[in-house]
Formats: sequence, structure tokens, C-alpha cells
Amino acid sequence: MSANPLGLKKIHHVEFYVGNAKQAEFFYRKAFGFSRAAYSGLETGNRETTSYVMRQNRVNFVLTTPMGPDHYSAEHIKQHGDGVRDIAFLVEDADAAFTYAISKGAKAVSAPHDLSDENGRVRKSSIQTYGDTIHSFISYGTGEADGYDGPFLPGFISQEVAGEEVGIQLVDHIVGNVELGKMNFWCDFYRDVMGFERYITFDDKDISTEYSALMSIVMSDGGHNIKFPINEPAEGKGGKSQIQEYIDFYRSAGAQHVALLCKDVISTVAKLQQNGVEFLRVPDTYYEEVRQRVGEIDEDIEVLKRLGILIDRDDEGYLLQIFTKPVEDRPTVFYEILQRKGCKGFGKGNFKALFISIEEEQRRRGNL
Ligand code: FE2
Repeated sequence: MSANPLGLKKIHHVEFYVGNAKQAEFFYRKAFGFSRAAYSGLETGNRETTSYVMRQNRVNFVLTTPMGPDHYSAEHIKQHGDGVRDIAFLVEDADAAFTYAISKGAKAVSAPHDLSDENGRVRKSSIQTYGDTIHSFISYGTGEADGYDGPFLPGFISQEVAGEEVGIQLVDHIVGNVELGKMNFWCDFYRDVMGFERYITFDDKDISTEYSALMSIVMSDGGHNIKFPINEPAEGKGGKSQIQEYIDFYRSAGAQHVALLCKDVISTVAKLQQNGVEFLRVPDTYYEEVRQRVGEIDEDIEVLKRLGILIDRDDEGYLLQIFTKPVEDRPTVFYEILQRKGCKGFGKGNFKALFISIEEEQRRRGNL
């Protein structure tokens, strides 16, 4: 039995602070196939921010923009551009989770408080993690007067605008990029504060190309439902690590990519490409040697090659994955689309080919 001192149940939502939530909503709906499910803004009495809740199966993204310069999100956007502010968890008890986290040294962002409207009441609290990123804890009470039966959280109204879903099911993992020398600090944070354990370690032997060296440790809850790899830049052979490029443009540590799990990666990626989502491509030579590296797979390699999908294997199976280009103008946040067929890894066998592609992009940006 693994410890779960915070009573984490799952990722409740990921909140992004964005410069223009209305346009971001259109992008996530038209490009990524999310549906708008809920809304908070001037019409609901919220004069500080506007938020759209975008939903696809079990993924909830919240896109929030400030209505003026005074809300903190304005400062976050000034510093970081569009990015992940909050990786929020559903927990058993938001008060207890907060008290435990603070007792283990976490920095408070907001003490436990009620959120309520005519649909009910929830408890929410928040702590700081890397950079200006936070973890909120949300719990639905169990008492007679508690519970919530609304579209998202109190303060939001239901507002459905259907997207054409592409088969994205679930957040598989969210990677944090942290400053040089800070990886172990943040791994200790996830161990001590969140009760996570070290799941996999990658060092620069695994993931060093000529320039884009990095180190990475995957921290996971006991049930391996919530996985947070933490990357730090490593010394390359004279060029700038892709992690350092991110940190320079995000202007701090922050969430690098959100990996979205799907059941049929071929159909999902084909739809995303039709919708105009831009993906990284590896050289075609990758597919000449891939069969030898991964052995027999169910999918047609030619189809994977056409779409640019990568394959990797571990002892338990294989995975299919692909990475988008950054989804904003700063070379910061991007997405991974993946399907797991038994494999619990993160695509280590693809790092080299991928990083050569990333370096090519970095070179074009003048950031190598
Ligand atoms: Fe990933």
C-alpha cells in the first residue's frame, strides 16, 4: 500500500492563464476537439476574470484571462506568456490536504475556503510548486449541506458549445521544466509534500544530443495515476539545452508539456493534423530502423510514418507518441499525444531522434 497523505484522487483540471481566452477557446475547440462546457465572466457577475471550461472525455482545461491589470493573471501573462497556472487535484479533504502540505514545508497560495453558488459548495485551497505554478486541492463535502451539482465549480454556469472530439481521453502526465540544479529539490518536494515516489530517472546518457542535454526524474503517486516528470537543463556540447530555452522564454520554471492519452492515436493524430495542429517531425530515416528497435507492432509503420508518430517499447509493451510544436509564440508550452499499449515509459528510445528535430527548430529560432 502506498501512502497518499494528501488524499489525491485525480487531476480535477488544468488552468491556463492566457492573453485572450475567447480566442484560446476557439483554438482548443476547433484544433484540439474540446467542447466548451462552462463559463464564468461578466454575465455571471465575475468582473475580475473570464474563464472557459473546455472538456474532452476526462480532460478539463480552464482558460482564464484577466479583465484588467489588477488581477494576478495579468502579471502571470506579462511574465510567462500563455501558460499553465494551476494543476488542480480532486482530493478527499481540501482542508486536510492543505494542512499536511504546509506542515511539510509547502508555500501557501490560498488557505482553505468555500466556493459556493446555488448548485452547492466545495472547499478549495492552493499551494505553490515550481515557478509561478500552483496545485489547488478541491473537495466536495460529504455533509448534508455540502456537495455540488453544477457544470464545473461554483461560479460557473453551464455553457455548451460542442467541438468535434478527436479522441483525447485523459491527462497522462505533465512535465515541469525547472532551473539548472533544481531537479532534486523539486523531486524532494513531490516526495515530502505530495507523498510521491521516484518512478523513473533519465540522465544525460539517455537524453543528450549534441546540444539538447537534459536530466529528468519522473515522480508519481503510489497508484501511478498522476505522473510528474521534472526536467532540468544539462550542459550540452556548447549549445543551449531545450530546457534552458523554455526557461529563458517562460522567464521561470513552469509546465513544459501536457501529455494527453488517447485510445487510437492514428485516428486522433490524423484529425488533429486535419485541424491544423502542427507537430514535430523526425527524419524519415527514423522509420527505417524503428522496426528493429521495437519489433512487431499492430500498426502499419507506413501509416505511422505518414503521420509522424513515434514508437517505443519497454518490458511490458509499447507506446505510440507524437509532440506538437509550441502552441504560443514563445517557444514554451506544447502537447504530447500518446497511446499506451502496455508500456509504462515515456519514450526514452525516441529522445535522440526527437531532440535532433527540436534542435533544428531551436536553430531556426536563433536559440541554440
Ligand atoms: Fe511526455
